[in-house]
Amino acid sequence: MPDTSDRPDRARASRPVPKPGIMDIHAYVPGKAAAHGVADPVKLSANENILGSSEKARAVYAEAASQLHIYPDSRTTIVRDAIAQHYRVEPERLIFGCGSDEVFQLLNQTFLEPGDNIVQGEFAFAAFAIGARACQAEVRSAREPGYRIDVDEVLKCVDERTRLVFIANPGNPTGTWIPFTEVRRLHENLPPSVVLVLDGAYSEFANDPAFQDGLDYARASENVVVTHTFSKLHGLAALRVGWGYAPAAIAAAVDRIRLPFNVSIPAQLAAVEALKDVEFQQRSIAHVDQWRAWLTQQLGGLGLEVVGPSAANFVLVGFPKTLGRTAADADEFLSARGLLTRRLLNYGLPDHLRITIGLEEHNRALVDALSDFMKA
Ligand SMILES: Cc1ncc(COP(=O)(O)O)c(C=O)c1O
Repeated sequence: MPDTSDRPDRARASRPVPKPGIMDIHAYVPGKAAAHGVADPVKLSANENILGSSEKARAVYAEAASQLHIYPDSRTTIVRDAIAQHYRVEPERLIFGCGSDEVFQLLNQTFLEPGDNIVQGEFAFAAFAIGARACQAEVRSAREPGYRIDVDEVLKCVDERTRLVFIANPGNPTGTWIPFTEVRRLHENLPPSVVLVLDGAYSEFANDPAFQDGLDYARASENVVVTHTFSKLHGLAALRVGWGYAPAAIAAAVDRIRLPFNVSIPAQLAAVEALKDVEFQQRSIAHVDQWRAWLTQQLGGLGLEVVGPSAANFVLVGFPKTLGRTAADADEFLSARGLLTRRLLNYGLPDHLRITIGLEEHNRALVDALSDFMKA
């Protein structure tokens, strides 16, 4: 029996009381999906794939309707084998989750006990910290000067209670990235007991030759985990499939606490087809490339601060105080025109909006609307 003598308040409470820290967690705030008075708004608030998803993936998803009474394969074997082949990695080193969010959660649960800490960037993706706090661990956020991960700042936060370092590369909500030489320098300076998690949710949209997702590097390491998702490039966000490539010992440990059947049959079938649909992937990347550059240039031309350069399928847009126009007002103005963007109060960025790259007509409508907003 756990000793609860140091917690009389919980033992004697007149109602169940969550463990310390739970009520201090800021629940995840998803991107807006509706606008008051607008019938069919354009959702540019969640970094989904604006082109949708592979037709082939959609076809097998529809066929899966005949299997809804069956539990999925708990080992996610068909996706495991497809990924192992596609990326030339060992299948037993793969971890599958209900989105890569679940992979982060599993890693936190596997490694953190109360009083341990994780280190992340100042503007890190919210899911890292939520899971760590749920384990009663401390969350240390390293300064990101220029909205970019700074390896020295990250290393400064690491101490003997650090168990995990989470780096999204490219980052969300910043869209910025660091070259692989810096990732390697970070890894080389971490104690071997610390797990370095490289979150590559947006990595396929990063096209600079100095960028690497870390998969090759992770092969020979004992403490690097690289995660990927089917939610962004493959446009399967609704199906919730993410994966991690981990050292065998970490994959085996995580597997002990993973709940069975965490990736559904329709999700497994669609993921396999999505991975094969190279044409859809290339089209998605080309679309983001073209319109990210255009949006960056156009929004900059309006006097807005486009953080970056972005290497993801979104841009982070700042409204400098000198403009006399706020991000909050812009968000409302855009919503009224049916364009939903993401406010970032939870990320400590009240003067910024994060905007997913849309279809051509969305991007043009967005620039027109912001141009009107700046004149209003
Ligand atoms: C940086 C980053 N990592 C991971 C994820 C999680 O993706 P999923 O749980 O859909 O795989 C997201 C989703 O927005 C993200 O922005």
